[in-house]
Amino acid sequence: MKDNILLIGFMGVGKGSIARAFAKEYGIYNIDTDDLIESKENKTIIKLFEKFGESYFREKEQETANWLENSVKKTLISCGGGFYKVNNINKIGKIILLDASFEWIYNRLKNAKNAEAKLAKRPLFKDLKRAKELYKERKKAYKEVADFIIKVEDKKDKEIIKELAKIAKVK
Ligand code: S3P
Repeated sequence: MKDNILLIGFMGVGKGSIARAFAKEYGIYNIDTDDLIESKENKTIIKLFEKFGESYFREKEQETANWLENSVKKTLISCGGGFYKVNNINKIGKIILLDASFEWIYNRLKNAKNAEAKLAKRPLFKDLKRAKELYKERKKAYKEVADFIIKVEDKKDKEIIKELAKIAKVK
């Protein structure tokens, strides 16, 4: 077993911030699939969507998944919201869904200190109606892919991290 943990879930649910806090608390490394793609392509996600379209970005997610499967172990991996669709996700590690309602996620983003930046860097959140539809489309699929689900709504980061630690079996 490669002992990786993958955090999946909708845009803005808090995968990145939970992953960073968890990594610090438990002294492990955390990587983010969007960051890997941005650094490999030397372009932001927004630019990749604008220049080459969403399907190109999805190809890059699959390439990243292949690299993770072959080259990464004992790492916490925070995944972009659409990464759950890669065809080898189960081979990368244990999959944990961070789950919350769309309303809670939207409020979390809107009320963040750097709300504008958080929304602006997510091309699929530009149109609120479309984002809500996407959430509805994916809700069930996320649960089907997940090995474990953590309900994050109205919980403090500390609580979420504790639950994650139990699942990940770290001390
Ligand atoms: C996407 C989510 C984003 C990023 C890209 C597409 C999606 O990641 O990968 O904008 O399809 O849900 P976050 O979930 O980190 O926002």
